[in-house]
Amino acid sequence: MKVGGVAMRSIWLEPDGWSVGIIDQRHLPHRLVTDRLTTLAEAAEAIRAMRVRGAPLIGAAAAYGLCLALRTDPSNAALDAACRMLAATRPTAVNLAWALEDMRRRLRSLPPARRSEAAYARAAAICDEDIATNRALGAHGAALIRERWEKKRRQGVVEVLTHCNAGWLATVDWGTALAPVFRAHDEGIPVHVWVDETRPRNQGASLTAWELQQHGVPHTVIVDNAGGHLMQHGRVDLCIVGTDRTTARGDVANKIGTYLKALAAADNGVPFYVALPSSTIDWSIADGLRHIPIEERAGSEVSDIAGRLPDGTVATVRLIPEGSPVANYAFDVTPARLVTALITERGVCEASAAGLLRLFPERRAGRTGT
Ligand code: MRU
Repeated sequence: MKVGGVAMRSIWLEPDGWSVGIIDQRHLPHRLVTDRLTTLAEAAEAIRAMRVRGAPLIGAAAAYGLCLALRTDPSNAALDAACRMLAATRPTAVNLAWALEDMRRRLRSLPPARRSEAAYARAAAICDEDIATNRALGAHGAALIRERWEKKRRQGVVEVLTHCNAGWLATVDWGTALAPVFRAHDEGIPVHVWVDETRPRNQGASLTAWELQQHGVPHTVIVDNAGGHLMQHGRVDLCIVGTDRTTARGDVANKIGTYLKALAAADNGVPFYVALPSSTIDWSIADGLRHIPIEERAGSEVSDIAGRLPDGTVATVRLIPEGSPVANYAFDVTPARLVTALITERGVCEASAAGLLRLFPERRAGRTGT
């Protein structure tokens, strides 16, 4: 997507041909800061500290983290240790495990001397595949927005509510939940997005709002608790969110608070769509509530908040009384029954085992787990 008119991805190989460029997302929306990752440790830290975040981007960053590790030591031991280190950075997004397993399987079968070059080639392919996937799911999702537009007899605008950031910053490009929005906007469908701020880290207020603004998509930032009110008053036509892990029967884990939006949508008859690349599907589990690990992050993300002061500097201030305990669950699980449909690169399907298997028949023989 474009930033100030210039095309940009969220991760790239630097001109030196080996170090990895990223946008340090912690500084947005106030400053666009790019950085260069040169070691495995730096890549792992970038994922853990959420300098890069969003399920597909975490997978791509982990793939490049392996490249950086193998550059200096292509042995089996180094490969396995790097996979373990990267896998431990964030537990919920399954793209991380998916990308690492994909890389490890391919690289293990090669002699060590050939691994580094092969790793860079595969990491680049993972990035390109992510972009193609998101472009395709964007087209399928835009068709749903168009349907809504026709249903409204082309009156007013199509009102979309989204949670967290599932835009291009969360992927390599295009995004998941926002890909249909960008596509519909580009096709001339009038869209307006209600952007949940998404406490505690405010990915909606900081990142989604910034992306939409850069692309010229009309939007309004709302506090996380406002969505239900808007739905009760007919101000939301559809919700589209992303997912960090989708089970074989269509349960989805996404940023904390997604479940409450799905409940409000169900109560108000608002379609609730989840957009995902198939790399987000964990075919080994069915029951998301029992089997998806929910990341718990530092309490300081809840007790403190960062923002720009009138003089332009960014500062962190404390919100809660000294000594009050905090809990910081980063994700929640929305059961498939609350999801109207899943939007994938292969089309739109019911959030169920049957729906997913219709689109991914090659998984029929596979293990779908518990
Ligand atoms: O904690 P984050 O910022 O990595 O969480 C991101 C989300 O929850 C997104 O909605 C999810 O990764 C799907 S987006 C492509």
